Amino acid sequence: MQTVHTTSELRAFVKTHRMKGHTIGFVPTMGNLHEGHLSLITEAKFRADIVICSIFVNPMQFGANEDLDSYPRTLDADSQALASKGCNLLFAPNANEVYPNGLDEQTRVDVPKLGDYHCGASRTGHFVGVATVVSKLFNMVQADIAIFGEKDFQQLAIIRKMASDLCFPIEIIGIPTSREKTGLARSSRNGFLSASEKSTAAILYKILLATRAELQKGERDFSKLCYQANQQLKEAGFKPDYFNIANPKTLAPSDYKDNSFVILVAAHIGNTRLIDNITLSL
Ligand code: PAJ
Repeated sequence: MQTVHTTSELRAFVKTHRMKGHTIGFVPTMGNLHEGHLSLITEAKFRADIVICSIFVNPMQFGANEDLDSYPRTLDADSQALASKGCNLLFAPNANEVYPNGLDEQTRVDVPKLGDYHCGASRTGHFVGVATVVSKLFNMVQADIAIFGEKDFQQLAIIRKMASDLCFPIEIIGIPTSREKTGLARSSRNGFLSASEKSTAAILYKILLATRAELQKGERDFSKLCYQANQQLKEAGFKPDYFNIANPKTLAPSDYKDNSFVILVAAHIGNTRLIDNITLSL
C-alpha cells in the first residue's frame, strides 16, 4: 500500500489507475481504525478495483469545547491495518493541505433541514464541517463510489443529500454498524472508556432494542418512549444528549402514521460522547 500526504500525489495515483480503466472506491475516515472502519474497506474492495482510504482529523467539524486535540491519532497502526485489508492508497493530508487558507476563509457546504436535528442541534456547525470536508475529499479523490457507516446515520443521510443536490458523480453506499459482542457500537472514542464505563456503555444498544420492540408492538407514544429511555440512561450513569425517534428519510420527529423509524441516541459517559441508532421498517 502506498501512502501520500498531498493532493497532487493523490491525483497522480488516481490518474494512473483511471488510464488503466480501474474503478475507484473511497473510504473517508478520521483514523484510529477499528473493525467497523475496516468493514468499509472490505466492502470497497468488493465493489471497486482500487481502494483509497483517507485519514484526516477534520478541525472544521469539532466545536470549541470538543475533543479535537485529544482525538486519537494512530497513523502507523492504521496504515498496517489498511494494508492487511488490501487498501491500495492511504491519503493522509495535514490541515494545511486541506485548508491552505485556514478555516475562516473556507467555502462551506450546508445541508439544511437534515442537519438541523439530533447531532446537528447539539453540535452547532458540526455537519457543515463534515459536508465541507467530504465534498473537498470527493473532489480530490474523484472516486466512483464512497462507503460510509450507518453508525453515523445522520451523517450518511446528509452526505447522500449533499451528493445528490450538488451533482457529485459518485455513488454513496451505507454499511451496517459493526458492534462488539456486548452490542456496543465500535467507535474510535470507545478507547477513552474505562473498563466499567465500557460495560455500562453496552446499555445504549439494549435501550435502543427495547424501544424498537415497543414500536414493533404498536406503541406510538413517542414522547413516553423517549422519556423512559432517557430515564434508563440516567439511571445507568449516562448524561443523555438526546434520544429521538425520527423518520429515517427526513430525520424529522416521527408521526404516528409513519411505518419506518430510526431511533437515535447520543449520551455522555464520563467525558466521552457516544452515539448509536437502530432502524425499524414495518
Ligand atoms: P470516522 O468517525 O473515522 O468514521 C469513518 C467512517 O467509518 C464513517 O463512515 C463512519 O460511519 C464509519 N464507522 C465508524 N464506526 C463504525 C462502526 N462501528 N460500524 C460501521 N461503520 C463505522 O465519520 C467520520 O470519521 C468523519 O465525520 C468523516 C466522514 C471522515 C469526515 O471527516
